[in-house]
Amino acid sequence: MSTQKKAYIETYGCQMNISDTELMHGILAAEGYAATEKPEDADVILVNTCAIREHAEQRVLGRVGQLQQFRRGRPDVVIGVTGCMAQRLGADLLDRAGGVDLVMGPDAYRQLPEKLAALRHPAPALPVLGGATAAGGLTVLTFDPFENYEGVEARRTSGASAWVPIQRGCNYRCTYCIVPYVRGDEKNRAPEAILDEVHRLVADGVVEVTLLGQTVNSYEHDGWDFPRLLRAVARVPGIRRVRFTSPHPNGFTRELVAAMAEEPTVCKQLHLPVQSGHDRTLKRMLRRYTVQAYLEKIAWVREAMPEIALSTDVIVGFPGETEKEYHATLELMRTVRFDDAYLYKYSLRDGTPATRLPRKQFVPDDVAQTRLVKLIETHREIQAQINRSELGRTLEVLVEKEAKRGGLLGRTEGNKVVAFAGASTLIGHFATVRLTGTTGATFSGERVEDQPVQRVA
Ligand code: 5AD
Ligand code: SF4
Repeated sequence: MSTQKKAYIETYGCQMNISDTELMHGILAAEGYAATEKPEDADVILVNTCAIREHAEQRVLGRVGQLQQFRRGRPDVVIGVTGCMAQRLGADLLDRAGGVDLVMGPDAYRQLPEKLAALRHPAPALPVLGGATAAGGLTVLTFDPFENYEGVEARRTSGASAWVPIQRGCNYRCTYCIVPYVRGDEKNRAPEAILDEVHRLVADGVVEVTLLGQTVNSYEHDGWDFPRLLRAVARVPGIRRVRFTSPHPNGFTRELVAAMAEEPTVCKQLHLPVQSGHDRTLKRMLRRYTVQAYLEKIAWVREAMPEIALSTDVIVGFPGETEKEYHATLELMRTVRFDDAYLYKYSLRDGTPATRLPRKQFVPDDVAQTRLVKLIETHREIQAQINRSELGRTLEVLVEKEAKRGGLLGRTEGNKVVAFAGASTLIGHFATVRLTGTTGATFSGERVEDQPVQRVA
């Protein structure tokens, strides 16, 4: 019987969290832990959490309760909560979610092996360093302005596609957002380290990378800015596709547009969060741009890359948002016609500036819900129209995985999902498919061989 320790990590939230889970697995692997997909086999169960909306946190609290079952008969199993919600709630989590042994924020993952060892072999005679609590759990919540996990070998499982974090934290203070308070200020990795990593990924068979940062285009290190880094990554021999997420509209410059347009491996796809279509709301969100400035940037992008696929994030029901302001957001959606959109109802996050707005300004939940539903409907209609107009095109997809209902799933350059029939040996490779049907949001297609590929979004 193997005595190797096993770690199971469940991930919630954004791509940054997926990437952090890969780092945690890497840190644990260096200490002899194997990764497992089965919590029932694990010695360590971690839930890597998101704090961006209340709903995400509720789900985690429920899940931590469920995970207790895997301790039955195995009292040594350690259950930990990591990530943004851990940082936000700290020791309160030990009380609110019964049976949590470890609460660890996003800057402290290097301490995982040490803290796990302390929990598994407690030394009651000595005080445990680093926030031991009455409940017997450990909390590690220190911010480290220099921690960017340089030197940690992430454990990746995504095959031909890889997330590459280039930045942690955020220097903006959008009034609704908890991120700066749980991930701290912006810190950027050295370009040499990033490029080294990309070279190594390519040597391991990776053909697509997505550069990650909270405001990825504000990247700056020793005279390198984001367009320069993007160009350098795009030119690493063997790289076929480069994406990045998420840029902030501020600092989204003509230079960046030129880098996207001129580098053939940079996907003609852009996620540019707008949040609201009205200047007064944008101002109160402290977004620091106007609707006109946003639209101007979209115009640059479309001028340079007419085939670009665009997506965005929007929040409705921000405190004080009037019906008129909400309608301006609907109008913006109709003007830009996004290929994809992530649409949210404002969620109050304790500790953010928006919570200090007068209560009477808060939009009642039923009103916010009605606004959200109508916005989703509007977006879906536009999305379906765009996607129907693409039917019949032949393009390249990078094959990601088998679909649940059989067949394969691939992604276009524009980041759209296509389901098609094919052998699983195609996973990790490019295939040429013709788009034959659409659900509105995703496509079905047929594989075609030896067909010229049209470059479309
Ligand atoms: N409520 C609702 N949505 C939020 N987002 C960030 N904070 C909140 C909040 N308090 C959304 C923004 C952001 C995306 C990742 O999540 O649209 O771009
Ligand atoms: Fe949050 Fe604004 Fe920073 Fe994005 S830019 S992570 S929305 S504070």
